[in-house]
Amino acid sequence: MARGAAIVVIAVCMMSCSGGMERGESGLSGEELFLRHCSGCHPDGGNSKYPLKSLDHFTLAANGIRTVDDIMAIMRHPDQGMTRFDRRTIGDGDARKIAEYILTAFK
Ligand code: HEC
Repeated sequence: MARGAAIVVIAVCMMSCSGGMERGESGLSGEELFLRHCSGCHPDGGNSKYPLKSLDHFTLAANGIRTVDDIMAIMRHPDQGMTRFDRRTIGDGDARKIAEYILTAFK
């Protein structure tokens, strides 16, 4: 566990080493991170491949996804057709921000 965290810190530091950042955080907002990593397949919170797996509240709830942790779990272990985002690609801090953004931005 400690080693995993250290790797994340090093990875984040290599990307943007300005110091004082929390573990796994790039300093970007949830919206910026979403636009960078997710909006290609989820434009405006939709789903360009499977509309029944969109990111609006109603669809998420229908698919049993209600919390930040639920969304983070999908980023770490998605179903078919979605890119997998491990901790090296998106640290826990950033993953949380993206999930919070999804839950507040798309109604
Ligand atoms: C390459 C295209 C692609 C990218 C990039 C992508 N997704 Fe997905 N996403 C999908 C597909 C396809 C599904 C449907 C399959 C599934 O449930 O995993 C999906 C499903 C989801 C679901 C479940 C939605 C539901 O209603 O059940 C969530 C939440 C989600 N994606 C979040 C994200 C987040 C957050 C990112 C960015 C970090 C992201 N996705 C990036 C293609 C993508």
